Amino acid sequence: MTPSTNAYNSSCSVPSMVNPVRRAVRWLRGFVLHYLQHLLIFILASGPIPKHVAFVMDGNRRYARKRAMLPQQGHSHGYVAFRRNLEICFRLKVKCVSAYVFSIDNFKRSPEEVDALMTLAEQSFSELIQYGNILQQYGVRLNVVGKKEMLPENVLKAVRKAEDMTRHNNKAILNLCMPYTSRDEITTAVRDTVHDSLQADQPLEITEKDIDDHLMTTKGGSPPLDILIRTSGVKRLSDFLLWQCAEDTQIQIVDTYWPDFGLFDLLPIILDYQRKVWA
Ligand code: FPP
Ligand code: MG
Repeated sequence: MTPSTNAYNSSCSVPSMVNPVRRAVRWLRGFVLHYLQHLLIFILASGPIPKHVAFVMDGNRRYARKRAMLPQQGHSHGYVAFRRNLEICFRLKVKCVSAYVFSIDNFKRSPEEVDALMTLAEQSFSELIQYGNILQQYGVRLNVVGKKEMLPENVLKAVRKAEDMTRHNNKAILNLCMPYTSRDEITTAVRDTVHDSLQADQPLEITEKDIDDHLMTTKGGSPPLDILIRTSGVKRLSDFLLWQCAEDTQIQIVDTYWPDFGLFDLLPIILDYQRKVWA
């Protein structure tokens, strides 16, 4: 489905017989870089680590346009970046990662792009739960958060299977938000809270905590959001985790397009978090 997803910013592959010296040097460089990155993650992980990191993975189509690719190809490269960054976060021992995969508004995009994103999602769910794959490797429970009933049947089936297979994982949480908007999550939480209150013998006074307890992300066990990262330089929240951002969340906007985002973009963000915690 996608190119290699092992490395954090680059890939290592075995040299072939074409141009052997140059290839061997390139391979060696990739190998050394890969182990340096492992070391970097190990050192970073010895400091304070955010419990919950969220990504607005923006810039896939601009990345594709710059390389004369189709928008769908930009999204496929976006998936590779998603895998790469997920692995970095779980190696760092981040407890919960949330990713904005598909906004309810994204259904307004062209049918070709929506279909391509749905196919990518279906393939991704199957890949993410394969034996020995990232979710099993790091003991991650998958929650798909949002208006799931808007998903096509085949995607919904893949979602249910992936959620069921990871239900007993308890080391970390992955919230894939699709089709999601924060206003929908808050509206649903308010509606459920009122419903529960009316069911009680004596209608309760609704508090902030009641609404919080009814949010899809809270029900899935997510801790408070420490860092929200948006790529591609756009300074908007785009209806993502608005309630969750309201407290101590550090919002970080980076210029890199999502498919290029990797360890060297994450590094200053984690260091900044550590500096603030120590301060
Ligand atoms: C925003 O970039 C990106 C999306 C709408 C799709 C995000 C999906 C992925 C990164 C693939 C991950 C898939 C799974 C199932 C985990 P954009 O299309 O708005 O690009 P632009 O800002 O350059 O126009
Ligand atoms: Mg965009």
